[in-house]
Amino acid sequence: MKTLLITGGAGFIGSHLVRLLVNKYPEYRIVNMDVLTYAGNLANLKDIEDKENYEFVKCNICDYVAVQKVFTDYNVEGVIHLAAESHVDRSIKDPFSFAQTNVMGTLSLLQSAKLAWEGNYEGKLFYHVSTDEVYGSLGEEGFFLETTKYDPHSPYSASKASSDHFVRAFHDTYGLPVVISNCSNNYGSYQFPEKLIPLFINNIKHNKPLPVYGKGENVRDWLFVNDHARAIDLIFHKGKIGDTYNIGGFNEWKNIDLIKVMIKTVDRLLGREEGASEKLITYVTDRAGHDLRYAIDSTKLKEELGWEPSLQFEEGIEKTVNWYLENETWLENVTSGAYQKYYEEMYS
Ligand code: NAD
Ligand code: TYD
Repeated sequence: MKTLLITGGAGFIGSHLVRLLVNKYPEYRIVNMDVLTYAGNLANLKDIEDKENYEFVKCNICDYVAVQKVFTDYNVEGVIHLAAESHVDRSIKDPFSFAQTNVMGTLSLLQSAKLAWEGNYEGKLFYHVSTDEVYGSLGEEGFFLETTKYDPHSPYSASKASSDHFVRAFHDTYGLPVVISNCSNNYGSYQFPEKLIPLFINNIKHNKPLPVYGKGENVRDWLFVNDHARAIDLIFHKGKIGDTYNIGGFNEWKNIDLIKVMIKTVDRLLGREEGASEKLITYVTDRAGHDLRYAIDSTKLKEELGWEPSLQFEEGIEKTVNWYLENETWLENVTSGAYQKYYEEMYS
Protein backbone atom coordinates (compact mmCIF):
# COMPACT_ATOMS: atom_id res chain seq x y z
CA MET A 1 0.00 0.00 0.00
CA LYS A 2 1.46 3.37 -0.99
CA THR A 3 1.47 5.86 1.90
CA LEU A 4 0.70 9.52 1.29
CA LEU A 5 1.29 12.03 4.06
CA ILE A 6 -1.13 14.97 4.04
CA THR A 7 -0.18 17.79 6.41
CA GLY A 8 -2.91 20.11 7.72
CA GLY A 9 -5.59 17.59 6.77
CA ALA A 10 -7.88 18.70 9.61
CA GLY A 11 -8.12 22.24 8.23
CA PHE A 12 -10.40 23.69 5.59
CA ILE A 13 -8.77 22.66 2.30
CA GLY A 14 -6.90 19.73 3.84
CA SER A 15 -10.10 18.04 5.03
CA HIS A 16 -11.64 18.26 1.55
CA LEU A 17 -8.47 16.83 0.03
CA VAL A 18 -8.22 13.99 2.59
CA ARG A 19 -11.86 13.06 1.97
CA LEU A 20 -11.34 13.03 -1.80
CA LEU A 21 -8.19 10.88 -1.63
CA VAL A 22 -9.48 8.42 0.99
CA ASN A 23 -12.63 7.75 -1.04
CA LYS A 24 -11.00 7.74 -4.47
CA TYR A 25 -7.87 5.68 -3.71
CA PRO A 26 -8.61 2.69 -1.43
CA GLU A 27 -5.18 1.37 -2.50
CA TYR A 28 -3.41 4.32 -0.79
CA ARG A 29 -2.90 4.71 2.94
CA ILE A 30 -3.67 8.37 3.70
CA VAL A 31 -1.90 9.65 6.82
CA ASN A 32 -3.17 13.01 8.03
CA MET A 33 -0.56 14.85 10.10
CA ASP A 34 -1.99 17.82 11.97
CA VAL A 35 -1.28 19.48 15.32
CA LEU A 36 -4.88 20.73 15.58
CA THR A 37 -4.47 24.47 16.06
CA TYR A 38 -7.63 26.60 16.40
CA ALA A 39 -8.13 26.01 12.65
CA GLY A 40 -7.77 22.24 12.75
CA ASN A 41 -10.87 20.26 13.59
CA LEU A 42 -11.32 16.49 13.43
CA ALA A 43 -15.08 17.02 13.17
CA ASN A 44 -14.32 18.08 9.56
CA LEU A 45 -13.49 14.43 8.82
CA LYS A 46 -16.15 12.56 10.80
CA ASP A 47 -17.53 10.80 7.72
CA ILE A 48 -14.21 9.13 6.80
CA GLU A 49 -12.44 8.72 10.14
CA ASP A 50 -13.21 4.99 10.34
CA LYS A 51 -12.06 4.13 6.82
CA GLU A 52 -9.36 1.46 6.71
CA ASN A 53 -7.03 3.47 4.50
CA TYR A 54 -7.07 6.56 6.77
CA GLU A 55 -4.92 7.39 9.81
CA PHE A 56 -4.57 10.53 11.88
CA VAL A 57 -1.27 11.48 13.52
CA LYS A 58 -1.18 14.43 15.90
CA CYS A 59 2.18 16.07 15.21
CA ASN A 60 3.63 19.55 14.89
CA ILE A 61 5.41 19.95 11.54
CA CYS A 62 8.04 22.06 13.32
CA ASP A 63 9.02 19.10 15.53
CA TYR A 64 11.76 17.82 13.25
CA VAL A 65 12.49 14.65 15.24
CA ALA A 66 8.83 13.65 15.40
CA VAL A 67 8.36 14.39 11.69
CA GLN A 68 11.35 12.21 10.76
CA LYS A 69 9.85 9.41 12.82
CA VAL A 70 6.55 9.64 10.92
CA PHE A 71 8.44 9.32 7.62
CA THR A 72 10.17 6.11 8.75
CA ASP A 73 7.31 4.57 10.77
CA TYR A 74 4.87 4.93 7.89
CA ASN A 75 7.29 4.56 4.99
CA VAL A 76 5.97 7.78 3.45
CA GLU A 77 6.32 7.91 -0.34
CA GLY A 78 4.44 11.08 -1.15
CA VAL A 79 3.71 14.30 0.71
CA ILE A 80 1.02 16.88 0.09
CA HIS A 81 1.86 19.76 2.40
CA LEU A 82 -0.96 22.09 3.43
CA ALA A 83 -0.31 22.70 7.14
CA ALA A 84 0.13 26.42 7.70
CA GLU A 85 -0.98 29.48 9.57
CA SER A 86 -3.30 30.86 6.93
CA HIS A 87 -5.05 34.06 8.02
CA VAL A 88 -3.60 37.42 6.92
CA ASP A 89 -5.10 39.39 9.84
CA ARG A 90 -3.52 37.04 12.38
CA SER A 91 -0.17 37.35 10.59
CA ILE A 92 -0.31 41.12 11.04
CA LYS A 93 -0.71 40.66 14.81
CA ASP A 94 1.75 37.75 15.23
CA PRO A 95 4.25 37.39 12.37
CA PHE A 96 6.57 35.10 14.36
CA SER A 97 4.16 32.17 14.44
CA PHE A 98 3.79 32.47 10.65
CA ALA A 99 7.56 32.32 10.10
CA GLN A 100 7.76 29.42 12.54
CA THR A 101 5.03 27.22 11.04
CA ASN A 102 5.14 28.21 7.40
CA VAL A 103 8.89 28.51 6.95
CA MET A 104 10.52 26.35 9.63
CA GLY A 105 7.73 23.75 9.50
CA THR A 106 8.11 23.41 5.72
CA LEU A 107 11.88 23.12 6.12
CA SER A 108 11.47 20.39 8.72
CA LEU A 109 9.28 18.42 6.27
CA LEU A 110 11.64 18.98 3.33
CA GLN A 111 14.67 17.85 5.30
CA SER A 112 12.80 14.78 6.58
CA ALA A 113 11.73 13.86 3.04
CA LYS A 114 15.28 14.31 1.79
CA LEU A 115 16.71 12.07 4.54
CA ALA A 116 14.06 9.40 4.08
CA TRP A 117 14.23 9.32 0.27
CA GLU A 118 17.85 10.20 -0.54
CA GLY A 119 19.40 7.75 -3.00
CA ASN A 120 15.98 6.57 -4.16
CA TYR A 121 13.82 9.43 -5.40
CA GLU A 122 11.98 7.12 -7.84
CA GLY A 123 8.21 7.29 -7.26
CA LYS A 124 8.54 9.94 -4.53
CA LEU A 125 6.99 13.42 -4.59
CA PHE A 126 6.85 16.42 -2.27
CA TYR A 127 3.85 18.58 -3.24
CA HIS A 128 3.75 22.02 -1.67
CA VAL A 129 0.38 23.79 -1.57
CA SER A 130 0.77 27.55 -1.81
CA THR A 131 -1.14 30.70 -2.53
CA ASP A 132 -1.45 33.37 -5.23
CA GLU A 133 -0.73 35.96 -2.51
CA VAL A 134 3.03 35.37 -3.00
CA TYR A 135 2.75 37.31 -6.29
CA GLY A 136 1.64 40.48 -4.50
CA SER A 137 -1.08 42.80 -5.73
CA LEU A 138 -2.39 43.57 -9.22
CA GLY A 139 -3.72 46.88 -10.49
CA GLU A 140 -7.00 46.99 -12.41
CA GLU A 141 -5.65 44.77 -15.19
CA GLY A 142 -3.56 41.67 -15.77
CA PHE A 143 -3.26 38.22 -14.18
CA PHE A 144 -0.74 36.27 -12.13
CA LEU A 145 1.18 33.78 -14.26
CA GLU A 146 3.50 31.02 -13.00
CA THR A 147 6.35 33.29 -14.13
CA THR A 148 5.17 36.40 -12.25
CA LYS A 149 7.85 37.75 -9.92
CA TYR A 150 7.21 37.19 -6.22
CA ASP A 151 6.23 40.38 -4.37
CA PRO A 152 4.55 39.45 -1.06
CA HIS A 153 3.23 42.22 1.19
CA SER A 154 1.75 40.60 4.30
CA PRO A 155 3.65 38.51 6.85
CA TYR A 156 1.42 35.61 5.75
CA SER A 157 2.33 35.92 2.06
CA ALA A 158 5.99 36.59 2.90
CA SER A 159 6.13 33.37 4.91
CA LYS A 160 4.44 31.39 2.11
CA ALA A 161 6.80 32.93 -0.47
CA SER A 162 9.75 31.92 1.68
CA SER A 163 8.45 28.35 1.98
CA ASP A 164 8.01 28.17 -1.83
CA HIS A 165 11.65 29.27 -2.25
CA PHE A 166 12.84 26.55 0.15
CA VAL A 167 10.88 23.92 -1.78
CA ARG A 168 12.50 25.00 -5.08
CA ALA A 169 15.90 25.18 -3.39
CA PHE A 170 15.56 21.54 -2.27
CA HIS A 171 14.75 20.57 -5.85
CA ASP A 172 17.62 22.54 -7.37
CA THR A 173 20.20 21.66 -4.70
CA TYR A 174 19.39 18.07 -3.70
CA GLY A 175 17.23 16.92 -6.61
CA LEU A 176 14.22 16.39 -4.32
CA PRO A 177 11.19 15.71 -6.55
CA VAL A 178 8.82 18.59 -5.86
CA VAL A 179 5.82 20.30 -7.36
CA ILE A 180 4.15 23.55 -6.24
CA SER A 181 0.72 25.00 -6.86
CA ASN A 182 -0.41 28.54 -6.14
CA CYS A 183 -4.16 28.87 -5.76
CA SER A 184 -6.57 31.79 -5.45
CA ASN A 185 -9.03 32.31 -2.55
CA ASN A 186 -11.06 29.21 -1.72
CA TYR A 187 -14.62 29.04 -0.40
CA GLY A 188 -16.90 26.21 0.69
CA SER A 189 -17.83 24.11 3.71
CA TYR A 190 -15.65 23.66 6.85
CA GLN A 191 -13.82 27.00 6.49
CA PHE A 192 -13.02 28.62 9.83
CA PRO A 193 -15.26 31.68 10.24
CA GLU A 194 -12.42 34.19 10.45
CA LYS A 195 -12.22 34.35 6.64
CA LEU A 196 -14.57 36.63 4.72
CA ILE A 197 -17.23 34.22 3.43
CA PRO A 198 -18.03 32.05 6.51
CA LEU A 199 -17.57 35.04 8.84
CA PHE A 200 -20.09 37.14 6.93
CA ILE A 201 -22.61 34.31 6.48
CA ASN A 202 -22.51 33.74 10.24
CA ASN A 203 -22.83 37.46 11.00
CA ILE A 204 -25.73 37.96 8.56
CA LYS A 205 -27.51 35.03 10.16
CA HIS A 206 -27.06 36.57 13.64
CA ASN A 207 -27.79 40.16 12.53
CA LYS A 208 -24.29 41.26 13.49
CA PRO A 209 -22.36 44.09 11.77
CA LEU A 210 -20.42 43.13 8.63
CA PRO A 211 -16.96 44.71 8.97
CA VAL A 212 -15.97 45.70 5.40
CA TYR A 213 -12.33 46.78 5.23
CA GLY A 214 -11.69 50.14 3.52
CA LYS A 215 -14.18 50.83 0.73
CA GLY A 216 -14.86 47.18 -0.06
CA GLU A 217 -13.21 47.65 -3.45
CA ASN A 218 -10.51 45.00 -3.14
CA VAL A 219 -10.87 42.16 -5.61
CA ARG A 220 -10.40 38.44 -4.93
CA ASP A 221 -10.63 35.49 -7.33
CA TRP A 222 -12.83 32.81 -5.71
CA LEU A 223 -12.60 29.06 -6.28
CA PHE A 224 -14.86 26.35 -4.83
CA VAL A 225 -12.73 24.28 -2.44
CA ASN A 226 -13.64 20.92 -4.02
CA ASP A 227 -12.26 22.19 -7.32
CA HIS A 228 -8.98 23.04 -5.59
CA ALA A 229 -8.86 19.51 -4.13
CA ARG A 230 -9.49 18.04 -7.61
CA ALA A 231 -6.68 20.15 -9.04
CA ILE A 232 -4.27 19.00 -6.32
CA ASP A 233 -5.15 15.35 -7.02
CA LEU A 234 -4.50 15.89 -10.74
CA ILE A 235 -1.22 17.77 -10.26
CA PHE A 236 0.01 15.21 -7.71
CA HIS A 237 -0.52 12.39 -10.20
CA LYS A 238 0.18 14.07 -13.56
CA GLY A 239 2.11 17.29 -12.88
CA LYS A 240 5.68 17.74 -14.09
CA ILE A 241 8.32 17.38 -11.39
CA GLY A 242 9.97 20.71 -10.56
CA ASP A 243 7.07 22.69 -12.06
CA THR A 244 4.61 25.23 -10.68
CA TYR A 245 0.90 25.35 -11.49
CA ASN A 246 -1.47 28.25 -10.87
CA ILE A 247 -5.00 27.27 -9.84
CA GLY A 248 -7.97 29.62 -10.22
CA GLY A 249 -11.38 29.85 -11.79
CA PHE A 250 -11.30 33.26 -13.53
CA ASN A 251 -13.90 34.36 -11.00
CA GLU A 252 -13.10 37.84 -9.74
CA TRP A 253 -15.34 39.66 -7.29
CA LYS A 254 -15.07 43.06 -5.69
CA ASN A 255 -15.58 42.44 -1.95
CA ILE A 256 -18.64 44.66 -1.68
CA ASP A 257 -20.36 42.97 -4.63
CA LEU A 258 -19.66 39.52 -3.19
CA ILE A 259 -20.98 40.66 0.20
CA LYS A 260 -24.22 41.79 -1.44
CA VAL A 261 -24.60 38.36 -3.08
CA MET A 262 -24.10 36.71 0.33
CA ILE A 263 -26.68 39.02 1.93
CA LYS A 264 -29.19 38.28 -0.82
CA THR A 265 -28.66 34.53 -0.56
CA VAL A 266 -28.81 34.32 3.25
CA ASP A 267 -31.88 36.60 3.42
CA ARG A 268 -33.70 34.52 0.81
CA LEU A 269 -32.84 31.20 2.46
CA LEU A 270 -33.91 32.51 5.87
CA GLY A 271 -37.16 33.89 4.44
CA ARG A 272 -36.23 37.51 5.16
CA GLU A 273 -37.24 40.42 2.96
CA GLU A 274 -34.83 40.92 0.02
CA GLY A 275 -31.86 43.11 1.03
CA ALA A 276 -33.05 43.32 4.65
CA SER A 277 -29.52 42.68 5.95
CA GLU A 278 -27.79 45.35 3.83
CA LYS A 279 -28.07 47.64 6.84
CA LEU A 280 -25.47 45.43 8.56
CA ILE A 281 -22.72 46.60 6.17
CA THR A 282 -20.24 48.59 8.27
CA TYR A 283 -17.16 50.14 6.69
CA VAL A 284 -14.18 49.84 9.04
CA THR A 285 -10.49 50.82 8.99
CA ASP A 286 -8.69 49.14 6.13
CA ARG A 287 -6.37 46.16 6.70
CA ALA A 288 -2.71 47.28 6.82
CA GLY A 289 -0.92 46.54 3.52
CA HIS A 290 -4.24 45.38 1.99
CA ASP A 291 -3.55 43.92 -1.49
CA LEU A 292 -5.90 45.51 -4.03
CA ARG A 293 -6.49 42.70 -6.47
CA TYR A 294 -5.65 39.03 -7.00
CA ALA A 295 -6.44 37.27 -10.29
CA ILE A 296 -5.00 33.95 -11.38
CA ASP A 297 -4.33 32.80 -14.92
CA SER A 298 -4.68 29.00 -14.76
CA THR A 299 -4.34 28.40 -18.52
CA LYS A 300 -1.28 26.18 -18.02
CA LEU A 301 -3.22 23.80 -15.76
CA LYS A 302 -6.06 23.66 -18.27
CA GLU A 303 -3.86 23.15 -21.33
CA GLU A 304 -1.35 20.70 -19.81
CA LEU A 305 -3.56 18.65 -17.50
CA GLY A 306 -7.12 19.43 -18.65
CA TRP A 307 -8.35 20.86 -15.33
CA GLU A 308 -11.34 23.19 -15.22
CA PRO A 309 -13.55 24.33 -12.35
CA SER A 310 -16.67 22.19 -12.09
CA LEU A 311 -18.99 24.80 -10.60
CA GLN A 312 -20.33 28.20 -11.54
CA PHE A 313 -19.94 30.68 -8.70
CA GLU A 314 -23.70 31.20 -8.23
CA GLU A 315 -24.15 27.47 -7.60
CA GLY A 316 -21.08 27.30 -5.33
CA ILE A 317 -22.15 30.21 -3.14
CA GLU A 318 -25.69 28.82 -2.82
CA LYS A 319 -24.29 25.44 -1.70
CA THR A 320 -21.90 27.16 0.70
CA VAL A 321 -24.50 29.40 2.34
CA ASN A 322 -26.82 26.40 2.67
CA TRP A 323 -24.08 24.36 4.31
CA TYR A 324 -23.33 26.98 6.99
CA LEU A 325 -27.03 27.49 7.68
CA GLU A 326 -27.62 23.74 7.98
CA ASN A 327 -24.52 22.96 10.06
CA GLU A 328 -25.31 25.08 13.08
CA THR A 329 -23.62 22.75 15.58
CA TRP A 330 -20.35 22.82 13.64
CA LEU A 331 -20.45 26.64 13.56
CA GLU A 332 -21.39 26.90 17.22
CA ASN A 333 -18.56 24.59 18.25
CA VAL A 334 -15.90 26.51 16.36
CA THR A 335 -17.17 29.94 17.41
CA SER A 336 -17.34 29.22 21.13
CA GLY A 337 -14.40 29.69 23.52
CA ALA A 338 -11.22 31.20 22.06
CA TYR A 339 -13.04 32.50 18.97
CA GLN A 340 -14.95 35.05 21.09
CA LYS A 341 -11.70 36.55 22.35
CA TYR A 342 -10.22 36.66 18.83
CA TYR A 343 -13.37 38.36 17.53
CA GLU A 344 -13.36 40.99 20.26
CA GLU A 345 -9.67 41.81 19.81
CA MET A 346 -9.97 41.92 16.02
CA TYR A 347 -13.19 43.88 15.58
CA SER A 348 -13.87 45.90 18.74
P1 NAD B 1 -6.53 26.29 7.61
O1 NAD B 1 -6.01 27.39 8.47
O2 NAD B 1 -7.99 26.05 7.50
O3 NAD B 1 -5.87 24.90 8.08
C1 NAD B 1 -4.53 24.78 8.42
C2 NAD B 1 -4.33 23.41 9.06
O4 NAD B 1 -2.94 23.28 9.39
C3 NAD B 1 -5.10 23.23 10.38
O5 NAD B 1 -5.71 21.97 10.42
C4 NAD B 1 -4.02 23.36 11.44
O6 NAD B 1 -4.32 22.64 12.62
C5 NAD B 1 -2.82 22.80 10.70
N1 NAD B 1 -1.56 23.30 11.27
C6 NAD B 1 -1.22 24.58 11.52
N2 NAD B 1 0.00 24.65 12.07
C7 NAD B 1 0.46 23.36 12.15
C8 NAD B 1 1.66 22.78 12.61
N3 NAD B 1 2.64 23.52 13.13
N4 NAD B 1 1.80 21.44 12.54
C9 NAD B 1 0.81 20.67 12.03
N5 NAD B 1 -0.36 21.16 11.58
C10 NAD B 1 -0.53 22.50 11.64
O7 NAD B 1 -5.88 26.54 6.17
P2 NAD B 1 -6.48 26.30 4.73
O8 NAD B 1 -7.26 27.48 4.33
O9 NAD B 1 -7.08 24.96 4.64
O10 NAD B 1 -5.13 26.33 3.85
C11 NAD B 1 -4.37 25.15 3.66
C12 NAD B 1 -3.17 25.49 2.80
O11 NAD B 1 -3.58 26.03 1.55
C13 NAD B 1 -2.24 26.54 3.43
O12 NAD B 1 -0.91 26.16 3.17
C14 NAD B 1 -2.60 27.83 2.70
O13 NAD B 1 -1.49 28.70 2.64
C15 NAD B 1 -2.97 27.29 1.33
N6 NAD B 1 -3.95 28.10 0.58
C16 NAD B 1 -5.13 28.49 1.16
C17 NAD B 1 -6.06 29.22 0.42
C18 NAD B 1 -7.38 29.62 1.02
O14 NAD B 1 -8.14 30.36 0.37
N7 NAD B 1 -7.76 29.18 2.20
C19 NAD B 1 -5.77 29.56 -0.91
C20 NAD B 1 -4.56 29.15 -1.47
C21 NAD B 1 -3.67 28.41 -0.72
P1 TYD C 1 -9.84 36.84 3.62
O1 TYD C 1 -10.98 35.89 3.57
O2 TYD C 1 -9.17 37.12 4.93
O3 TYD C 1 -8.78 36.33 2.54
P2 TYD C 1 -7.41 37.03 1.99
O4 TYD C 1 -7.12 38.23 2.78
O5 TYD C 1 -6.40 35.97 2.22
O6 TYD C 1 -7.68 37.31 0.54
O7 TYD C 1 -10.32 38.23 3.03
C1 TYD C 1 -10.89 38.33 1.73
C2 TYD C 1 -11.13 39.79 1.43
O8 TYD C 1 -12.13 40.29 2.34
C3 TYD C 1 -9.90 40.67 1.67
O9 TYD C 1 -9.86 41.70 0.68
C4 TYD C 1 -10.13 41.27 3.03
C5 TYD C 1 -11.65 41.40 3.12
N1 TYD C 1 -12.22 41.27 4.49
C6 TYD C 1 -13.07 42.26 4.99
O10 TYD C 1 -13.39 43.25 4.32
N2 TYD C 1 -13.55 42.11 6.27
C7 TYD C 1 -13.24 41.04 7.05
O11 TYD C 1 -13.71 40.98 8.23
C8 TYD C 1 -12.39 40.02 6.52
C9 TYD C 1 -12.01 38.83 7.33
C10 TYD C 1 -11.91 40.18 5.22
